[in-house]
Amino acid sequence: MEKELWSSRGAFIMAAVGSAVGLGNLWRFPYVVYENGGGAFLIPWVVALVTAGIPLLMLEFALGHMMRAGAPKSFHNIARSSWVGWGCLLNGFVIVSYYAVVMGWVFVYLYYSIGVQWGDRAEEFFFKDFLGLSSGPGELGGMRWPVLLGLVLTWISIFLIIFKGVRVVGKVVAVTVPLPALLILLFVARGMTLDGALEGLKFYLKPDFSKLLDPKVWLAAYAQVFFSLSLAFGIMVAYASYLHERSDVVGSAIITAALDAGISFVAGFAVFSVLGYLAFQKGVGVPEVVAGGPSLAFVTYPTAIKLLPFGASFFGLCFFLMLLTLGIDSAFSLVEAFVAGVKDVWNISRTKATLISCLLPMIGGLIFCTKGGLYWLDIVDHFITNFGLTFFGAVECLVVALFGRRILKEHMNRVSKIKVGKWWDFCIGVLTPLILVISIVMNLIERIRKPYEGYPGWALALGGWGVVALVIIAALILGYLSRRRFERLNSGPVS
Ligand code: TRP
Repeated sequence: MEKELWSSRGAFIMAAVGSAVGLGNLWRFPYVVYENGGGAFLIPWVVALVTAGIPLLMLEFALGHMMRAGAPKSFHNIARSSWVGWGCLLNGFVIVSYYAVVMGWVFVYLYYSIGVQWGDRAEEFFFKDFLGLSSGPGELGGMRWPVLLGLVLTWISIFLIIFKGVRVVGKVVAVTVPLPALLILLFVARGMTLDGALEGLKFYLKPDFSKLLDPKVWLAAYAQVFFSLSLAFGIMVAYASYLHERSDVVGSAIITAALDAGISFVAGFAVFSVLGYLAFQKGVGVPEVVAGGPSLAFVTYPTAIKLLPFGASFFGLCFFLMLLTLGIDSAFSLVEAFVAGVKDVWNISRTKATLISCLLPMIGGLIFCTKGGLYWLDIVDHFITNFGLTFFGAVECLVVALFGRRILKEHMNRVSKIKVGKWWDFCIGVLTPLILVISIVMNLIERIRKPYEGYPGWALALGGWGVVALVIIAALILGYLSRRRFERLNSGPVS
């Protein structure tokens, strides 16, 4: 069968940028900057980009491009360790199961934007009216039907975008990448012309250099880069496998990282100028309104939009359209990576593989559609990003550094204009795994000292440790099964 390919290198880069640029650029990056020393944080962040983000992106691009396969098969070919590929994909599976729920909220909020239906009580509207939030993770309290509707709409969109293959994906990202970037610029322009904007920006970028002495700040920079570039999810491996045989992967990695970083930085202006305005309107200090994550997107920003002097409905619609187009290409990139992984091992049709890869995380996501769903989302997110992602990130680096560093580097340098040298070996073989391991250990110590957010132990055992353990066990099982198949295929007649 003919291997499917991107229509151009530009389409590939767009898709990679689409995966990298997501909700995190808007609701995570600016908040992380604010919390970790403002402008001073840009130093560890750039260091993390150059020493971990770009080298890892090169690794994943080169691996997928060289092996022309999804993550499990690529890791099998380079180091007989397809379980690493599966672990990456399964982590992403867990993340996409709740990321899609958030996308579902966005779908519903597009509708609520018409007439700014949250009024001047966005907080109550979101937590009480919309989510119907229960008293804790122990009380699921039944389904929230509007959330479920949003979730189903999200999964239908994802299915329709990817089931035909990467050619359609290439067309979709030609819209879902530039559009949110333009909308961010719209919000920067609107935000900067509001009262209090400059005061808000001070809190985004005023540097506190003393923070640079705190190792936690450096770890936060690496975590942000990892999450934002969608590294260690097998996504970039799968996307690069659809490239033409000769394609400059080093250049593509640099461009992708630069675009993602640039969009993060600019998004901070859209966020903090509007936060400054909100503080000004309320007559409070900026720190009192600062938020990240869902609170920023569904409470704080909507509150500010309602206070705009004109066009609140319009800006509300633009805001949620921006979130939708920011997030959807991150979500479907992971599903695509999973489909690629499954198809390499089992001989099933693309449509069937896509259907399974959409239905499973959708069913898993049902728990987040209940009234207690937000608690579970919070728990699962914390553990999978702090333990699952970092664990497989470290393993990915070590496995490649130990078994495949040389051939991968040869391949990279053969197809790319910029050649990589010893610094790359050091970054992926020593520095990045070391930082990830330190981060895991520090997080472990913190979790042993006090339970996350004071949730009950059983809930953390189930949604936190349990989910991480399940991912690792399932990765080992799938790795074992697929390894046997790969070995049988290789020893069979050459087709
Ligand atoms: N890069 C995305 C962002 O910044 C987040 C992300 C990373 C993600 N890996 C993912 C989203 C896998 C969905 C699935 O928002």
